[in-house]
Amino acid sequence: MTAPASPRFRRLLVTGGAGFIGSCFVRDTLARRDGTTIVVLDKMTYAGNRANLAPVVADPEQAAHLTFVVGDIADAKAVAPLVAGVDAVVNFAAESHVDRSILDPEAFLRTDVMGVHVLLEACRLEQERARKGDRAAAPRFLQVSTDEVYGSVETGASREGDRLEPRSPYSAAKAGGELLVNSYFVTYGMDALVTRGSNTYGPYHHPEKLIPLFITNAIDDQPLPLYGDGLQRRDWLYVADHAGAIGHVLQNGRSGEVYNVPAENERTNRAVVTDLLALLDKPWSLVRQVEDRAGHDRRYAMDGSKLAALGWTNGMKFEDGLAATVDWYLAHEDWWRAIKSGDWNAYYERQYAARLASSKEAGR
Ligand code: NAD
Ligand code: TYD
Repeated sequence: MTAPASPRFRRLLVTGGAGFIGSCFVRDTLARRDGTTIVVLDKMTYAGNRANLAPVVADPEQAAHLTFVVGDIADAKAVAPLVAGVDAVVNFAAESHVDRSILDPEAFLRTDVMGVHVLLEACRLEQERARKGDRAAAPRFLQVSTDEVYGSVETGASREGDRLEPRSPYSAAKAGGELLVNSYFVTYGMDALVTRGSNTYGPYHHPEKLIPLFITNAIDDQPLPLYGDGLQRRDWLYVADHAGAIGHVLQNGRSGEVYNVPAENERTNRAVVTDLLALLDKPWSLVRQVEDRAGHDRRYAMDGSKLAALGWTNGMKFEDGLAATVDWYLAHEDWWRAIKSGDWNAYYERQYAARLASSKEAGR
């Protein structure tokens, strides 16, 4: 699925554009060469990586359409002039890892709630300017949210109107952020909408998350720390499909609406690990059953009929996406070895040392 030849929103502020999904959105959008210009605003936390935008920088025509700004979405002074120059804001910026939210919840509130508030206030100011005739139209605001706001869904599939029952500091902060977005639509008539994507995987995924952690550990014959019984279920969405769906909703979605972005590739963690070990030709004996994540959500699943009605279809089958992802990590050791060094070691020690010391065979 491709965006329209002449997109409605052509000057974009993409926050968090140096992260996993945001950088895919930037790469894929600029590769279309449809006149879109992008300003990336990224705080460059441990998860931000300039190398994720290397393909854009290496292409002079695409590079000419990209401006990169290092800054915090919670910094009103940094945000205001950037929002003033664009037709739309796509907010990928977030603290995004559940395990880190259990270790340090405060950073999540600052970025995932207060950061959203600051962006919304900047858009409200621009809306006022548009009302006075100082700019052509108010900016559109798209908040990239997550299926995790629904909480653990034991059966069935969440629909957009379902109650939000977030259970981790990460998902609670994301729910707070998107509820603010809805409040600005209702209260100020702002042009704003939300996507809720499912678990995403693919190239450039930070190696703290399940799939890239297990691929890179397996390449090095290191243990794979499987939480609890490993029968938790996730719906795995290929990153280019997630980024594409966000672009489609940005251009075609209705203001005030929320759109689920599911993959319809539900798998237990054990099934995912089995598949990636087979692709790497590595033994199951690498898998260690470790102490479970606190408050671990058992299952996420969403109904995608609203997004389908908007005209979006995913393109990647899970088997092909996982194989492409494994190949990418095999071919890009420099990229992930640079991340798995320095600060990484302290994080890994804190998250896994005690767990691995008391781990047991995972059994098949
Ligand atoms: P990521 O952690 O890879 O990237 C986040 C980016 O945001 C990084 O570049 C980081 O430097 C930047 N950032 C963090 N705090 C910032 C701040 N205060 N100001 C500016 N930049 C800041 O995350 P991701 O996996 O690419 O996720 C992107 C978005 O998609 C997030 O909002 C996340 O909640 C959502 N999401 C992710 C998934 C998933 O499986 N990865 C699924 C659904 C939704
Ligand atoms: P993760 O990639 O952190 O995504 P999320 O928590 O947002 O779903 O984890 C995916 C699943 O894998 C989740 O059920 C937790 C599990 N998991 C492990 O078993 N071991 C690990 O080391 C990690 C990081 C995750």
